[in-house]
Amino acid sequence: MNLKGVQLTWLGHATFRIETPAGKTIIIDPWVMNNPACPPSEKKVKKVDTMLITHGHGDHIGDAVEIAKQHEPQVVGIPELCGWLEKKGVKNTAMMNKGGTQLVGDIKVTMVHADHSCGIQDGDQLVYGGEACGYVVEFDNGVKIYHAGDTNVFGDMAIIRELYAPEIVMIPVGDHFTMGPREAAYACNLLKPKTVIPMHFGTFPMLTGSPAELQKLVPDLNVVTLKPGVTVRDSIAA
Ligand code: NI
Ligand code: MN
Repeated sequence: MNLKGVQLTWLGHATFRIETPAGKTIIIDPWVMNNPACPPSEKKVKKVDTMLITHGHGDHIGDAVEIAKQHEPQVVGIPELCGWLEKKGVKNTAMMNKGGTQLVGDIKVTMVHADHSCGIQDGDQLVYGGEACGYVVEFDNGVKIYHAGDTNVFGDMAIIRELYAPEIVMIPVGDHFTMGPREAAYACNLLKPKTVIPMHFGTFPMLTGSPAELQKLVPDLNVVTLKPGVTVRDSIAA
């Protein structure tokens, strides 16, 4: 499908950088420095206008505070998580909650459900981080994507499909902490996207689910495995 000016770069695990047609840079789940799947060339983030955070686990917010302090992007997250980020010195939080949609820069962001936990490990304290979520992002060229965050499959993915109809979905397939290929295939049947981008696999040995296993279960769908650090422009597989 034609991305119509949206540029997508997977930075490994659940982290994505997206350039909008107007040239704004979005980062989803900023974990680069200690992310073993992030290529060295991407460990230093050069520019961010908008940061979207799905939940407070370290493999999703690992570098959120540092990057937010350096680049001062608008930071979208659930209120409890944004409150914690503010305590750490992060400015420009744009908190929201599930079901809500807000315009952030040149994108429309909808926070949707995810079924996962959300404690924040802060030194030796475990802080309540609200709930885990996913995001549907609509670009001003009409392209819609869904980043599921960490989640199992849940029946209300059918509602995400009916209300928002994202063409591209980023869903976890690694198993153990999130859904694996079998649940991901079921998620695809609920979401009916044009393109599936698997994420949250292979980063650690225990994340054993693979995109190839998912592709076998959904032979009619485009499962596109991105290479970390390689930007997809113009079009994404059929
Ligand atoms: Ni998690
Ligand atoms: Mn995770």
